[in-house]
Amino acid sequence: MNTKSHRLELELTNARKRLHCETVKRKTADVALRKSQRHYDKLLAESCLMQEQLRHLSHQILLAQEEERKHISRELHDDISQILTGINVRLAALKIEATNNSGNLKKKISITQRLVEKSVAAVHRFARELRPAMLDDLGLVPALLAFMKEFGKRTGLQIHFTSMTADRIEQLSNLKRTMLFRVAQEALTNVTKHAQASQAKVSIRVQSDGICMEISDNGKSFDVNHALGLKRRGALGIIGMRERVELIGGAFSIESAPGKGTAVRVKIPIRSGGKAGLEVCA
Ligand SMILES: Nc1ncnc2c1ncn2[C@@H]1O[C@H](COP(=O)(O)OP(=O)(O)OP(=O)(O)O)[C@@H](O)[C@H]1O
Ligand SMILES: [Mg+2]
Repeated sequence: MNTKSHRLELELTNARKRLHCETVKRKTADVALRKSQRHYDKLLAESCLMQEQLRHLSHQILLAQEEERKHISRELHDDISQILTGINVRLAALKIEATNNSGNLKKKISITQRLVEKSVAAVHRFARELRPAMLDDLGLVPALLAFMKEFGKRTGLQIHFTSMTADRIEQLSNLKRTMLFRVAQEALTNVTKHAQASQAKVSIRVQSDGICMEISDNGKSFDVNHALGLKRRGALGIIGMRERVELIGGAFSIESAPGKGTAVRVKIPIRSGGKAGLEVCA
């Protein structure tokens, strides 16, 4: 064997050794990669499960909250308001009896009566806001109309409401109707609290795959990302709206621009079990 072929053979042997080393290294890396992939898959599965559990828990909390509101609302409406009405009736009777007595007593009774009447009205309003019986008895549109009428009168905000095909809306599950009602309630409350607007519009549209609700105002704008990112103590309105909507498989968005005011948009699937992240109606 000449020196050249000896040298070539040596190079070949070295190359084989290097190749072997490289193969071993790659195999080791491959095993490590598969191991970390399995670990990652396991972590992902665990986090998905936890997310699902969290969703379930929030669902339960919101349902329990609605039940509790229903209970307090009934209690306020049926018990306390009846007691106040009873007191008022007695006061009226006392006033008649006092006709022959001093006028001072009559005046005092009249003042007390007015206080009681005010309390009855406040209790009714509070009960309606907690859980409007109309929502269960007549449906979302009548409940919203009643709420907006009272809200507009109390705050001076002009609210224009448009809605299509109430049938389809009322076919929504009780939970979905409640969620839409709560979102409208919070969005309108925000308009009077923050927007300094003179007008608000509420619209509900039915599309083939879902129901869109929009609450817009002509007030001052705000930085939505800042408001969403900023977990200020006590400010839960927007976060709460979004959570409620996502819980029923809907999509939530807010747009706010100088000179254009703010628009809160919600789209929820008509059928149950819809996935979150639907396109929000334009
Ligand atoms: N329609 C709106 N117009 C102008 N600013 C708004 C409007 N809606 C919300 N904002 C701004 O976004 C912030 C967050 O609103 P969010 O409803 O989360 O909290 P909040 O109303 O301050 O408190 P909470 O709703 O918990 O009582 C508000 O403080 C306000 O600055
Ligand atoms: Mg708010």
